[in-house]
Amino acid sequence: MIVEQARAKLNLALHVRTRRADGYHELETLFAFVDHGDAVSVNLSDAPAFAVSGDFADALVDEADNLVLRAERAFCAVFGIAQSHTIHLEKQLPVASGIGGGSADAAATLRALARLHGIATDDARLWQIADDLGSDVPACLASVTAIGKGRGEKLQPIAGAPGTPVLLINPGIAVSTGEIFRRWDGKDGGALPSGPLIEVAMASRNDLYPPAKAIAPVIGDVIAWLETMPGAYLIRMSGSGATCFALFDTMAACAAACECASVEHPGWWAVATELV
Ligand code: C5P
Repeated sequence: MIVEQARAKLNLALHVRTRRADGYHELETLFAFVDHGDAVSVNLSDAPAFAVSGDFADALVDEADNLVLRAERAFCAVFGIAQSHTIHLEKQLPVASGIGGGSADAAATLRALARLHGIATDDARLWQIADDLGSDVPACLASVTAIGKGRGEKLQPIAGAPGTPVLLINPGIAVSTGEIFRRWDGKDGGALPSGPLIEVAMASRNDLYPPAKAIAPVIGDVIAWLETMPGAYLIRMSGSGATCFALFDTMAACAAACECASVEHPGWWAVATELV
Protein backbone atom coordinates (compact mmCIF):
# COMPACT_ATOMS: atom_id res chain seq x y z
CA MET A 1 0.00 0.00 0.00
CA ILE A 2 1.22 3.48 -0.84
CA VAL A 3 0.35 6.38 1.47
CA GLU A 4 0.73 10.02 0.47
CA GLN A 5 0.14 13.09 2.62
CA ALA A 6 -2.25 15.73 1.26
CA ARG A 7 -0.93 18.77 3.09
CA ALA A 8 -3.13 21.82 3.49
CA LYS A 9 -2.20 24.66 1.16
CA LEU A 10 -2.03 28.27 2.26
CA ASN A 11 -2.00 31.36 0.09
CA LEU A 12 0.27 33.61 2.14
CA ALA A 13 -0.64 36.27 -0.42
CA LEU A 14 -3.10 36.27 -3.31
CA HIS A 15 -3.09 39.13 -5.80
CA VAL A 16 -5.79 38.98 -8.46
CA ARG A 17 -4.47 40.89 -11.46
CA THR A 18 -6.98 40.52 -14.32
CA ARG A 19 -10.15 38.71 -15.34
CA ARG A 20 -9.50 36.54 -18.39
CA ALA A 21 -11.72 35.88 -21.39
CA ASP A 22 -12.10 32.23 -20.30
CA GLY A 23 -13.64 33.32 -16.97
CA TYR A 24 -10.53 32.53 -14.90
CA HIS A 25 -8.34 35.16 -13.27
CA GLU A 26 -4.64 35.87 -13.61
CA LEU A 27 -3.08 35.55 -10.17
CA GLU A 28 0.13 36.16 -8.36
CA THR A 29 0.12 34.08 -5.24
CA LEU A 30 2.50 32.74 -2.59
CA PHE A 31 1.79 29.07 -1.98
CA ALA A 32 2.98 27.50 1.27
CA PHE A 33 2.16 24.15 2.86
CA VAL A 34 1.67 23.08 6.46
CA ASP A 35 2.31 19.96 8.49
CA HIS A 36 -1.37 19.03 8.66
CA GLY A 37 -3.73 17.57 6.10
CA ASP A 38 -5.50 14.59 4.62
CA ALA A 39 -3.90 11.29 3.66
CA VAL A 40 -4.53 9.12 0.60
CA SER A 41 -3.71 5.39 0.51
CA VAL A 42 -3.82 3.38 -2.72
CA ASN A 43 -3.38 -0.27 -3.54
CA LEU A 44 -4.06 -2.57 -6.48
CA SER A 45 -7.29 -4.56 -6.11
CA ASP A 46 -9.57 -6.91 -8.02
CA ALA A 47 -12.42 -4.40 -8.04
CA PRO A 48 -12.47 -0.60 -7.63
CA ALA A 49 -13.18 0.56 -4.09
CA PHE A 50 -13.20 3.95 -2.38
CA ALA A 51 -13.61 4.70 1.31
CA VAL A 52 -13.34 7.86 3.35
CA SER A 53 -12.86 8.35 7.09
CA GLY A 54 -11.78 11.20 9.35
CA ASP A 55 -13.24 14.34 10.92
CA PHE A 56 -14.70 15.67 7.65
CA ALA A 57 -15.61 12.34 6.03
CA ASP A 58 -19.33 13.14 6.20
CA ALA A 59 -18.92 15.99 3.74
CA LEU A 60 -17.73 13.53 1.09
CA VAL A 61 -19.42 10.17 1.61
CA ASP A 62 -22.42 11.03 -0.55
CA GLU A 63 -20.38 12.72 -3.21
CA ALA A 64 -20.19 10.09 -5.94
CA ASP A 65 -17.66 11.98 -8.03
CA ASN A 66 -14.96 13.58 -5.92
CA LEU A 67 -11.54 14.86 -6.98
CA VAL A 68 -9.77 11.70 -5.76
CA LEU A 69 -11.84 9.51 -8.10
CA ARG A 70 -11.50 12.00 -10.95
CA ALA A 71 -7.72 11.97 -10.48
CA GLU A 72 -7.66 8.17 -10.52
CA ARG A 73 -9.78 7.99 -13.67
CA ALA A 74 -7.61 10.53 -15.47
CA PHE A 75 -4.41 8.77 -14.36
CA CYS A 76 -5.61 5.37 -15.62
CA ALA A 77 -6.79 6.84 -18.93
CA VAL A 78 -3.57 8.76 -19.61
CA PHE A 79 -1.17 6.00 -18.56
CA GLY A 80 -3.24 3.10 -19.97
CA ILE A 81 -3.74 1.37 -16.61
CA ALA A 82 -6.40 -1.36 -16.76
CA GLN A 83 -6.01 -2.54 -13.13
CA SER A 84 -8.37 -1.46 -10.37
CA HIS A 85 -7.42 0.37 -7.20
CA THR A 86 -8.59 0.47 -3.63
CA ILE A 87 -8.33 4.05 -2.41
CA HIS A 88 -8.74 5.30 1.12
CA LEU A 89 -9.01 8.99 1.99
CA GLU A 90 -8.45 10.18 5.55
CA LYS A 91 -10.29 13.52 5.52
CA GLN A 92 -8.98 15.89 8.20
CA LEU A 93 -9.40 19.17 6.30
CA PRO A 94 -12.70 21.05 5.99
CA VAL A 95 -14.09 21.02 2.44
CA ALA A 96 -14.45 24.13 0.23
CA SER A 97 -12.36 26.09 2.71
CA GLY A 98 -9.52 27.82 0.86
CA ILE A 99 -6.77 25.46 2.02
CA GLY A 100 -6.89 23.20 -1.00
CA GLY A 101 -8.39 20.10 0.59
CA GLY A 102 -9.85 18.63 -2.60
CA SER A 103 -6.88 19.79 -4.68
CA ALA A 104 -4.41 18.32 -2.18
CA ASP A 105 -6.35 15.03 -2.17
CA ALA A 106 -6.29 14.87 -5.98
CA ALA A 107 -2.56 15.67 -6.02
CA ALA A 108 -1.80 13.06 -3.33
CA THR A 109 -3.77 10.50 -5.35
CA LEU A 110 -1.65 11.29 -8.42
CA ARG A 111 1.60 11.02 -6.42
CA ALA A 112 0.50 7.72 -4.86
CA LEU A 113 -0.57 6.21 -8.20
CA ALA A 114 2.65 7.41 -9.83
CA ARG A 115 4.68 5.64 -7.13
CA LEU A 116 2.55 2.49 -7.40
CA HIS A 117 2.98 2.30 -11.17
CA GLY A 118 6.58 3.53 -11.44
CA ILE A 119 5.76 6.86 -13.12
CA ALA A 120 8.34 9.60 -12.51
CA THR A 121 6.91 12.55 -10.57
CA ASP A 122 8.36 14.94 -13.16
CA ASP A 123 6.46 13.20 -15.99
CA ALA A 124 4.78 16.01 -17.96
CA ARG A 125 1.61 13.93 -18.36
CA LEU A 126 1.14 13.86 -14.58
CA TRP A 127 1.39 17.65 -14.44
CA GLN A 128 -1.08 17.98 -17.31
CA ILE A 129 -3.61 15.83 -15.42
CA ALA A 130 -3.11 18.04 -12.36
CA ASP A 131 -3.63 21.18 -14.42
CA ASP A 132 -6.84 19.76 -15.93
CA LEU A 133 -8.22 18.84 -12.48
CA GLY A 134 -8.01 22.36 -11.02
CA SER A 135 -5.99 25.54 -10.69
CA ASP A 136 -4.46 24.57 -7.31
CA VAL A 137 -3.74 20.93 -8.11
CA PRO A 138 -0.28 21.51 -9.69
CA ALA A 139 0.78 23.53 -6.61
CA CYS A 140 -0.46 20.70 -4.38
CA LEU A 141 1.32 18.12 -6.56
CA ALA A 142 4.57 20.00 -5.92
CA SER A 143 3.64 20.75 -2.27
CA VAL A 144 6.56 23.16 -1.89
CA THR A 145 6.68 26.87 -1.18
CA ALA A 146 6.26 28.60 -4.54
CA ILE A 147 5.09 31.68 -6.38
CA GLY A 148 2.06 30.79 -8.51
CA LYS A 149 1.10 32.73 -11.62
CA GLY A 150 -1.43 32.24 -14.41
CA ARG A 151 -4.50 30.51 -12.90
CA GLY A 152 -2.10 29.45 -10.14
CA GLU A 153 -0.59 26.59 -12.15
CA LYS A 154 2.63 28.30 -13.27
CA LEU A 155 4.97 27.57 -10.38
CA GLN A 156 8.30 28.97 -9.36
CA PRO A 157 9.62 27.30 -6.18
CA ILE A 158 11.15 29.70 -3.63
CA ALA A 159 12.79 29.37 -0.24
CA GLY A 160 10.21 28.67 2.48
CA ALA A 161 10.14 29.34 6.19
CA PRO A 162 9.90 25.78 7.58
CA GLY A 163 9.03 25.44 11.23
CA THR A 164 7.14 28.75 11.40
CA PRO A 165 4.16 28.18 13.75
CA VAL A 166 0.79 28.75 12.08
CA LEU A 167 -2.76 28.65 13.41
CA LEU A 168 -5.56 27.71 11.00
CA ILE A 169 -9.12 28.77 11.81
CA ASN A 170 -12.25 27.91 9.84
CA PRO A 171 -15.56 29.28 11.13
CA GLY A 172 -17.46 26.22 9.90
CA ILE A 173 -18.82 27.53 6.63
CA ALA A 174 -18.09 26.48 3.06
CA VAL A 175 -17.83 29.23 0.44
CA SER A 176 -17.95 29.00 -3.36
CA THR A 177 -14.62 29.88 -4.99
CA GLY A 178 -16.28 30.71 -8.30
CA GLU A 179 -18.75 33.13 -6.72
CA ILE A 180 -16.04 34.93 -4.75
CA PHE A 181 -13.86 35.37 -7.85
CA ARG A 182 -16.91 36.71 -9.73
CA ARG A 183 -17.38 39.34 -7.00
CA TRP A 184 -13.78 40.57 -7.20
CA ASP A 185 -13.93 44.32 -7.85
CA GLY A 186 -11.78 44.11 -11.00
CA LYS A 187 -9.19 46.57 -9.67
CA ASP A 188 -5.59 45.46 -10.07
CA GLY A 189 -3.85 46.32 -6.80
CA GLY A 190 -0.39 45.57 -8.23
CA ALA A 191 2.20 42.83 -8.43
CA LEU A 192 3.76 40.82 -5.61
CA PRO A 193 6.90 42.56 -4.37
CA SER A 194 10.15 40.58 -4.43
CA GLY A 195 12.25 39.48 -1.46
CA PRO A 196 12.22 36.82 1.27
CA LEU A 197 8.96 34.89 1.71
CA ILE A 198 7.63 36.39 4.93
CA GLU A 199 8.65 39.96 4.00
CA VAL A 200 6.89 39.60 0.65
CA ALA A 201 3.82 38.15 2.33
CA MET A 202 3.71 40.93 4.93
CA ALA A 203 3.79 43.54 2.17
CA SER A 204 1.03 41.78 0.18
CA ARG A 205 -2.69 41.08 0.44
CA ASN A 206 -5.47 38.65 -0.37
CA ASP A 207 -7.67 40.37 -2.93
CA LEU A 208 -10.42 37.81 -2.37
CA TYR A 209 -10.88 38.83 1.27
CA PRO A 210 -13.28 41.75 0.62
CA PRO A 211 -15.70 39.73 -1.56
CA ALA A 212 -15.47 36.70 0.75
CA LYS A 213 -16.19 38.83 3.82
CA ALA A 214 -19.15 40.41 2.03
CA ILE A 215 -20.66 36.96 1.42
CA ALA A 216 -19.67 35.53 4.82
CA PRO A 217 -19.15 38.30 7.42
CA VAL A 218 -17.97 35.72 9.98
CA ILE A 219 -14.66 35.66 8.08
CA GLY A 220 -14.14 39.25 9.27
CA ASP A 221 -14.86 38.06 12.82
CA VAL A 222 -12.14 35.40 12.51
CA ILE A 223 -9.59 37.96 11.29
CA ALA A 224 -10.54 40.40 14.08
CA TRP A 225 -10.26 37.61 16.66
CA LEU A 226 -6.82 36.51 15.36
CA GLU A 227 -5.64 40.11 15.65
CA THR A 228 -6.23 39.96 19.42
CA MET A 229 -3.98 36.91 19.86
CA PRO A 230 -0.57 37.61 21.46
CA GLY A 231 2.34 36.79 19.15
CA ALA A 232 0.24 36.61 15.96
CA TYR A 233 1.44 38.23 12.75
CA LEU A 234 0.60 37.86 9.04
CA ILE A 235 -3.10 37.43 9.80
CA ARG A 236 -4.95 36.65 6.58
CA MET A 237 -7.58 34.62 4.79
CA SER A 238 -6.31 31.77 2.56
CA GLY A 239 -7.51 31.34 -1.02
CA SER A 240 -11.19 32.20 -1.37
CA GLY A 241 -11.80 31.43 2.32
CA ALA A 242 -13.28 30.81 4.68
CA THR A 243 -10.14 29.47 6.43
CA CYS A 244 -7.92 32.18 7.89
CA PHE A 245 -4.45 31.81 9.36
CA ALA A 246 -1.91 33.63 11.50
CA LEU A 247 1.79 33.02 11.87
CA PHE A 248 3.17 33.12 15.41
CA ASP A 249 6.48 33.96 17.04
CA THR A 250 6.50 30.72 19.04
CA MET A 251 4.65 27.39 19.01
CA ALA A 252 3.66 28.03 22.64
CA ALA A 253 1.83 31.23 21.60
CA CYS A 254 0.27 29.41 18.62
CA ALA A 255 -0.93 26.51 20.80
CA ALA A 256 -2.29 28.95 23.40
CA ALA A 257 -4.29 30.77 20.71
CA CYS A 258 -5.61 27.43 19.43
CA GLU A 259 -6.73 26.51 22.94
CA CYS A 260 -8.34 29.92 23.31
CA ALA A 261 -10.25 29.40 20.03
CA SER A 262 -11.64 26.07 21.19
CA VAL A 263 -12.89 27.68 24.44
CA GLU A 264 -14.23 30.95 23.00
CA HIS A 265 -15.48 29.58 19.66
CA PRO A 266 -16.16 25.86 20.01
CA GLY A 267 -17.86 25.83 16.59
CA TRP A 268 -14.69 26.94 14.85
CA TRP A 269 -12.17 24.46 13.46
CA ALA A 270 -8.74 25.37 14.86
CA VAL A 271 -5.40 23.66 14.25
CA ALA A 272 -1.95 24.70 15.49
CA THR A 273 0.67 23.48 13.06
CA GLU A 274 3.76 24.75 11.25
CA LEU A 275 4.92 25.64 7.76
CA VAL A 276 6.94 22.92 6.00
O1 C5P B 1 -9.66 25.68 -11.17
P1 C5P B 1 -10.73 25.39 -10.17
O2 C5P B 1 -11.77 24.44 -10.70
O3 C5P B 1 -10.21 24.96 -8.84
O4 C5P B 1 -11.45 26.78 -9.92
C1 C5P B 1 -12.71 26.89 -9.32
C2 C5P B 1 -13.35 28.18 -9.78
O5 C5P B 1 -12.62 29.28 -9.26
C3 C5P B 1 -13.31 28.37 -11.27
O6 C5P B 1 -14.44 27.83 -11.89
C4 C5P B 1 -13.29 29.88 -11.42
O7 C5P B 1 -14.60 30.37 -11.32
C5 C5P B 1 -12.53 30.33 -10.20
N1 C5P B 1 -11.11 30.62 -10.47
C6 C5P B 1 -10.79 31.79 -11.14
N2 C5P B 1 -9.49 32.09 -11.39
C7 C5P B 1 -8.50 31.29 -10.94
C8 C5P B 1 -8.81 30.10 -10.25
C9 C5P B 1 -10.13 29.79 -10.02
O8 C5P B 1 -11.67 32.54 -11.55
N3 C5P B 1 -7.23 31.64 -11.17
